[in-house]
Amino acid sequence: MTQAPLYILGIDTSCDDTGVGIVELSASGSVQVRANRIWTQAVHAQYGGVMPELASREHVERIDGVMADALAEAGLKVSDIGAVAATSGPGLVGALLVGLMYGKGLAQALDVPFFAAHHLEGHIFAAASEDNLQAPYLALVVSGGHTHLFDVPEEGKYILVGATRDDAAGEAFDKIARLAGLGYPGGPAIAEAALRGNPDAVPFKEPLQGQKAFEFSFSGLKTAALLAHKAGAKPEDLAASFQRAAVHVLVKTTRRAAEAYGRQTVVVSGGVAANTALREAFNQTDLHVVFPGKGLNTDNGAMIALAGAAALRAGRAPSPLAAGATAYAPLANG
Ligand code: KG4
Ligand code: ZN
Repeated sequence: MTQAPLYILGIDTSCDDTGVGIVELSASGSVQVRANRIWTQAVHAQYGGVMPELASREHVERIDGVMADALAEAGLKVSDIGAVAATSGPGLVGALLVGLMYGKGLAQALDVPFFAAHHLEGHIFAAASEDNLQAPYLALVVSGGHTHLFDVPEEGKYILVGATRDDAAGEAFDKIARLAGLGYPGGPAIAEAALRGNPDAVPFKEPLQGQKAFEFSFSGLKTAALLAHKAGAKPEDLAASFQRAAVHVLVKTTRRAAEAYGRQTVVVSGGVAANTALREAFNQTDLHVVFPGKGLNTDNGAMIALAGAAALRAGRAPSPLAAGATAYAPLANG
């Protein structure tokens, strides 16, 4: 780190959100989000899921504008940026490439360090940076593509504790919302409908009940939802019952893992971490649970800037400009 404060620009184009964020890294090592701008692509709603080719094209069209908005929000000029981070994976390769190439070009033009960031590490830092949290902690990432539980014994070390065997938690929210005609994306739609529904109306069996491991499974809940829907369950009852079942199993398994790994602090991040019922259930445990701040749950650029800040703080070497985009990139390294 040469001078302080350092402004780090982060870019995420891994899926259907064009995100650019800016964080300030102070001389003391603390970080602060200065800007977080997201263009959420509406084009996919008509298909009920993300169309990769359309996502890539829209990233190309939007990224300049989103970056200009982020700089304006932070009150900075592009020449104030001292480092650039962009997601290199996992994600849709065509979509990732847009942000990755943009970030590399920007870093090269400004002659500043470039960091290829891991999308899940970004999600984790979105929460961990909330109170400048330091490892050790347990990290639950619950999004549309992931349901992963990691032990983080020290900064930069990730041990996979458990993951989903089938669908991701957010994917189950999306699919059940679609089935019940509640709209897309399904997470917020289910959460809203659940407020009007009866959580006891549809019985859901707890997935993997009695397991000794820390795995997750959502496909059984999806099938049970389909059967209940066919049997005439009301959408809001389906939403309330499913949400309660999903929240229960996420909290229960994480709670058991925290005990097994001797962790008191749990970071919960990813799109599903925006869910109010999930937050309330976690807050009722005896754990110290940290969630991302407003606008940092679902995919965004600020979380990638935070991952860049963590890399700089840890003294990690910048990434080579040859770093490529990868659809599949496990985070576990221990
Ligand atoms: O982190 P994210 O933006 O993208 C991925 O990396 O996958 O997460 C998106 C997922 C979607 O499945 C969406 O339905 C879910 O997060 N989600 C929610 C809520 N808000 C977004 N799920 C439950 N409750 C919410 N309030
Ligand atoms: Zn994500």
